[in-house]
Amino acid sequence: MVIVLGVSGGIAAYKAVVLARLLVEDGHEVHVVPTDDALRFVGVPTWEAISRNKVTTSVHDDVAEVRHVALGQRADLVIVAPATANTLAKMAAGLADNLLGTTLLATQAPVLVAPAMHTEMWRHPATQANLATLAGRGVHVVGPDSGRLTGSDSGPGRMSEPAAIAARARRLLAPGDLTGLRVLVSAGGTREPIDPVRFLGNRSSGRQGVAVALAAADRGAEVLLVAANVDGSVLGEVEGHPSIRIESAGSAAELQQVVEAGAGTSEVVVMTAAVADYRVAGVAEGKIRKEDADAPPVLHLVENPDILAGLVARRRPGQTVVGFAAETADSEEELLDFGRRKRRRKGVDLLAVNRVGWNAGFETATNTLYLIDGEDRAIGRVEGTKRAAADGLWDAVAALRPGSPAAPA
Ligand code: C5P
Repeated sequence: MVIVLGVSGGIAAYKAVVLARLLVEDGHEVHVVPTDDALRFVGVPTWEAISRNKVTTSVHDDVAEVRHVALGQRADLVIVAPATANTLAKMAAGLADNLLGTTLLATQAPVLVAPAMHTEMWRHPATQANLATLAGRGVHVVGPDSGRLTGSDSGPGRMSEPAAIAARARRLLAPGDLTGLRVLVSAGGTREPIDPVRFLGNRSSGRQGVAVALAAADRGAEVLLVAANVDGSVLGEVEGHPSIRIESAGSAAELQQVVEAGAGTSEVVVMTAAVADYRVAGVAEGKIRKEDADAPPVLHLVENPDILAGLVARRRPGQTVVGFAAETADSEEELLDFGRRKRRRKGVDLLAVNRVGWNAGFETATNTLYLIDGEDRAIGRVEGTKRAAADGLWDAVAALRPGSPAAPA
């Protein structure tokens, strides 16, 4: 997608550099349009290096390609971050005395502004009236946050963090093809207790599952995210999302309870969580103490129920069940072979298999998912950030849903 990032002249321009990078990492074509004032904070070389595109600020540059309207016409989204009081006022009045102004008037794409200014300027009736005018025209607003401002003062006026602005951008760019769909996503990894202080666990961070939940919500779904020991920083990405409800589960038994209760009202279930295959038999009531033992303790394991296979067995008509498989494999062929076998064993409509190892799959920001459909066909490979992989997964799920032109007969 083509994103124009307008940057106006506030100190928060330095944070917009991080925003530009996040948008590029998401795979977008990013064009930065700084105002002259913004260039006093961050210069052209920085914007060009980060956006990987040429930067112009004047309506008199590249006149032959009619750049003053071309950027706005091509854009799928225009973001103004930081949006100063002055730029917001100019937008409200429809002024076009710089390239950002002409771009904003020429675009039919959604516009997202991230205001940044001192608290007094933010609270001024003129700024509030301009903002109301813009909101009335459908302009989206993110922030401002409250907190430390340029000087020693603090209050509302701080530009939203780049990650929060990027998250809103993703929501605005998402296709909306899952609107109205109720989706359950499990994420993270279970912990099987040994005694009150110890557990058997796995290295799943929950990042991929959280990305799957977020992508679905951004595309219009109502999501129940069942989080098994997901790190607070990862869960923070979805907290407060209007379409995501989070429920926590610790062990496989707890996860089973929450998932089975939620699956009855979900049209799609995606089991991203790494569920322990075994639990400890006879969990100790008190801490197992070395001093009390003559020899190292032996843990007896019993098999956990396969939650996914159970969901498939009780699948409602029209319900789509998706499984995940994390495998160590020597080759792509072997990985797909493991995936096919697991797909058959679980009976799911779609299985996403990814390679894991000492240095792959876990706690990383990127992933590669191989998708296997209900007929055991390898239907694609999606890779990139865990969010990009999640969107690829949802493209495949959407194509499987009843009513989709690509759905199997
Ligand atoms: O057999 P394996 O654990 O590799 O299968 C992985 C898939 O099965 C994942 O989707 C996982 O959430 C699910 N699973 C489950 N219940 C288990 C074990 C795995 O639902 N006890």
